[in-house]
Amino acid sequence: MTLIPELTILQPADKEQIDLPRTSEEELAVGKKRLYIESYGCQMNFADSEIVAAVMRNAGFATTATAEDADVIFLNTCAIRDNAEQKVRNRLKHLTGLKRQKPELLVGMLGCMAERLKTKLLEEEKVVDIVAGPDAYRDIPKLVEEAESGQKAVNVFLSREETYADISPIRLNSNGVTAFVSIMRGCDNMCSFCVVPFTRGRERSRDPHSIVREAQDLFDRGYREVTLLGQNVDSYKWVLGARSEERGEESASETPHSSLPAPNTTTFAHLLEMVALIHPDLRVRFSTSHPKDITDDVLHTMARYDNICNYIHLPAQSGNSRVLKLMNRTYDRPWYIGKIDRIREILGEDCGISTDMISGFCTETEDEHQESLSLMDYVHYDYAYMFAYSERPGTLAAKKYADDIPEDVKKRRLNEIIARQLAHSSERNQRHIGQVQRVLIEGPSKRSDDFLCGRNDQNKMVVFPRGNHQKGEYVHVLVTECTSATLRGDVVNE
Ligand code: SAH
Ligand code: SF4
Ligand code: F3S
Repeated sequence: MTLIPELTILQPADKEQIDLPRTSEEELAVGKKRLYIESYGCQMNFADSEIVAAVMRNAGFATTATAEDADVIFLNTCAIRDNAEQKVRNRLKHLTGLKRQKPELLVGMLGCMAERLKTKLLEEEKVVDIVAGPDAYRDIPKLVEEAESGQKAVNVFLSREETYADISPIRLNSNGVTAFVSIMRGCDNMCSFCVVPFTRGRERSRDPHSIVREAQDLFDRGYREVTLLGQNVDSYKWVLGARSEERGEESASETPHSSLPAPNTTTFAHLLEMVALIHPDLRVRFSTSHPKDITDDVLHTMARYDNICNYIHLPAQSGNSRVLKLMNRTYDRPWYIGKIDRIREILGEDCGISTDMISGFCTETEDEHQESLSLMDYVHYDYAYMFAYSERPGTLAAKKYADDIPEDVKKRRLNEIIARQLAHSSERNQRHIGQVQRVLIEGPSKRSDDFLCGRNDQNKMVVFPRGNHQKGEYVHVLVTECTSATLRGDVVNE
């Protein structure tokens, strides 16, 4: 993979990839209106598009694989960095051309950029007819109707309760083996660089039984892996019987002076266990863990169940305590290192660990940047998502600190971080050479139909000759070689 500043590398699933315009559950579109959805940003946005597809199906729309065929086009957008928004603006230019040829075409902007810019989007981008924020997806059919009657339609209301728990998502782009399941929405942390609390609203957890039902249903339909999604899964909390406005809020049922949850509270560790118990052949992954909140309970639960994958995404953002304070991450370097040590103690050296790193945050000095590199040396991450700091309007950092690191310095520091990570990824992958790994087959490898690929426990992609194997099966692969991104080997009988 090439080193492109501002793009992440070595990642298990590209956070800023564009949704390929294909659907596995494409419906017969005869007589129906057609919807085309393109998703940007994180896995939660991709999961949201599947909810939108379900809402639109109930309103009589079939999904289509090509923008040119569609009556309605939705872009489910991301606002995390400026370049994420620029990507969408460029796409809108193309859609403007499409709409010229087909004036009745409706274009909707969904997701975080829609929420951030609200009606400003309608002023700035004439091609846009509909603007819907992440909590307004139930309202989308009504917004489409309004737009069909020639008005611009907007709903950017953020809810404290919406979790879409009762909506059964239509799996778009699915390999039929792995699926994402949202367990919570929003974020109550105020990391100073981050736009997410403004675009996704307050944190709220989804009813655990609806999560288990969704995962069970996926298993019954042949899926073999679920990834539980939240911005901070460790603060997942469901209080039985609490009024919805109390759910997830501290005092409601916590025993005073105790950090133990009350008996009627479902924590993330409980939830993990509930999902793991569905079936030993259903793999459970989760993302994202927050260093301030991840508990020993979660780590012990992971250790207890073979089908909870041995992989933790634990973003550090920086290796320097002063910068972490400015970032409002609420932990410092020693605390983060303590969490890494606990992971290694409880789950062993082989547990996969990945991070997010930001280069060139406000006032970061060379020495402080070196501390990010030395933290990487301490942990030896398996993967990393790496970014140059991009100031986001309205965030705490944008209000309080000058974005004072020149772009070329940010890029140079980012490239140093990327180079260090490449070396660590290669090293960590080499550990697997000579080992037999259990792999869940996801489908043909990208390069050749003669090879299949799937992930091992630690979330690493493993490629091997097809033989008579099928996607959805588990196989044991003896790893014989690796790059910094992939393991290769041959299936062996175990
Ligand atoms: N909830 C997750 C992160 C979600 S955003 C967590 O707390 O770890 C994904 C990543 O984007 C962040 O971890 C951070 O590394 C990066 N990011 C967020 N805002 C950014 C900004 N303004 N500039 C550069 N990178 C940013
Ligand atoms: Fe953003 Fe911080 Fe929330 Fe992650 S935890 S989404 S970085 S505010
Ligand atoms: Fe982007 Fe929103 Fe996700 S800003 S990273 S799509 S939560």
